[in-house]
Amino acid sequence: MEEKKISKAVIGRLPRYYRYLGELIEEGVERISSNELSVRMKVTASQIRQDLNNFGGFGQQGYGYNVRYLYAEIAKILGIDQQHNLIIIGAGNLGQAIANYTNFERRGFLIKGMFDINPKLIGLVIRGIEIRSVDELESFIKANDIQIAALTIPKTKAPEIADRLVKAGIKAIWNFAHTDLVVPEDVVVENVHLSESLMRLSYRVSSRKLEEEAKKAERN
Ligand code: NAI
Repeated sequence: MEEKKISKAVIGRLPRYYRYLGELIEEGVERISSNELSVRMKVTASQIRQDLNNFGGFGQQGYGYNVRYLYAEIAKILGIDQQHNLIIIGAGNLGQAIANYTNFERRGFLIKGMFDINPKLIGLVIRGIEIRSVDELESFIKANDIQIAALTIPKTKAPEIADRLVKAGIKAIWNFAHTDLVVPEDVVVENVHLSESLMRLSYRVSSRKLEEEAKKAERN
């Protein structure tokens, strides 16, 4: 595939394309037109064509997109055609929920270990994944070729653990702790904040309500 700079906005939409294409494969669909995909995904066909044209040569006039090919190419771009070893720091409610979710493995993310400071949790096994003492963090990372660390610990503890992870060679942090981590440039942090998503939802509901009220007032 031709090397080309793809915008962040397009990259941000790729996981959704990937999910829909995966569903099409499960349904046995071999090819799909941008119009059909547009109906399914509720995105305009021109947006789909623009997005997917970034990768060149996927769609053909009158043929549509080859679903498996596109799925594999998007996987390559997202780097999920390779296996990523992951650890979870903080084996509480959220850490255990992530460990119990089997779908990450289907995407190539293997949860290799969990870490905590609570002696009541250390030694427990969640879906085959042992909870270890955080004292073992550095040696485990080195011995198990860990690339990604999920942080599901209180925000006050997150900076110290992030420092340790960086020193141990981790280049990717999946941060659930509600704090902005300061890391070197070669380390990427993906923040996941469900409460922010909920606030965006709340904004959309309230603004819709305001619009409806304004329309009602206009009619009266
Ligand atoms: P929890 O209290 O059930 O689990 C936190 C775990 O971290 C505990 O088991 C605790 O022993 C452990 N821990 C504390 N300090 C540690 C350290 N230095 N090293 C290793 N383990 C340590 O809390 P919960 O509900 O699982 O939430 C965890 C974190 O995730 C909190 O910061 C919470 O605010 C955040 N959170 C974020 C969400 C998001 O959407 N980003 C959603 C829910 C929670």
